[in-house]
Amino acid sequence: MRLRTAVNLADVRELARRRLPRPVFDMVDGGADDELTLARNEAAFRGLLLSPRPFEDVTRVDPSVRLFGRRLSLPVLLAPTGGGRIAHRRAELAVAAAARGQDTVYVQSTVTGYPLEEVARAGGGGLWYQLYLPASRDETRAMVARVAAAGYRALVLTVDTPVFGGRERDRRNGFSLPLRPSPRMLLHGASRPAWAVEFLRGNLPTRRDGRLSAWATQRQILASPRPVTWDDLAFVRDLWDGPLVIKGVLRAQECRRILDCGADGLIVSNHGGRQLDGVPATVEALPAVVEAVGGRVPVLLDGGVRRGTDVLKAVALGATAVLVGRPYLYGLAAGGQAGVERVLELLGAEFTRAMALTGCRTVADIDAGLLLPPR
Ligand code: FNR
Repeated sequence: MRLRTAVNLADVRELARRRLPRPVFDMVDGGADDELTLARNEAAFRGLLLSPRPFEDVTRVDPSVRLFGRRLSLPVLLAPTGGGRIAHRRAELAVAAAARGQDTVYVQSTVTGYPLEEVARAGGGGLWYQLYLPASRDETRAMVARVAAAGYRALVLTVDTPVFGGRERDRRNGFSLPLRPSPRMLLHGASRPAWAVEFLRGNLPTRRDGRLSAWATQRQILASPRPVTWDDLAFVRDLWDGPLVIKGVLRAQECRRILDCGADGLIVSNHGGRQLDGVPATVEALPAVVEAVGGRVPVLLDGGVRRGTDVLKAVALGATAVLVGRPYLYGLAAGGQAGVERVLELLGAEFTRAMALTGCRTVADIDAGLLLPPR
């Protein structure tokens, strides 16, 4: 199987599994602790049943949406993922170019293999930036100013990472960032020659990486992330003039206060099951957040989206759009920019088909009436 013959996202995941050494694949693919939430994110989508609307003229279907004044080809964005350069040498540059080519948004993570200005150029000015708080307010001020100067359109503040979740696959595999050329890594790398060549050439984030300077600002975040307090939220809001989106909301209780602090959007997310294990699937958490927000700002969702029908189900439950994380990293590993584009094409084709099959001409036609009530 090759990228061109991959018929769905599961195929692209399989291509990535064959290309990456096990510790690298596991770092991308894995979740926290028992991976209950990781599994639940996908299972909850599968448990939702669709109820198609017949007699609609769906000769033409328009899957585009508007978000913060910009038209996106699909209600699918690319979530922030740190450390993508372990999977592919061009990492963030390839993802940004793919997002640009496919008319969608890539949310660039603070944890990056390339300086944010370079990624912004590759993305043609349409990117969002995800912020993990640096150690001090001065550094935060400088960082946000850099992000604004580079032309990022929106700032995403992730609030579910006061400490890192327990990633047991990484501990078992002895995985660390920057990558260490340990005997175990060489052993796994030996069966993955294309990856190993890049590793030995120093194109991946090892300690002898020429771009290690890009890691300097991140070393502290990787060593010890910081909690985000209400004060921090107010501080960041003051610094940033554009849309501010809060990522990592799972319940209704704080929504009103978040909006009162001036947030312009929320992302219902459990970090792809990589932080606290045992929380609900995001599609289970979504309805309460949508209700609490009451249409004041867009609500997005990520976690477990693997099919066009998953996108449709999330939109039916009130999400303006979804984000995907692992799927495009599998695409990146399998084929760089072309792999990320393939993932977006597959999801786009599936979503458009799902719209037609449920009787929806536009994304605005997708509503809760398309879901069967749970029995
Ligand atoms: C992430 N995620 C993440 N989130 C964030 O806010 N900042 C980050 O740096 C990262 N890094 C990261 C690395 C990797 C390898 C993964 C898989 C995920 C979480 C990400 O933004 C998103 O919430 C999930 O990936 C969504 O779930 P799916 O689509 O992977 O199921």
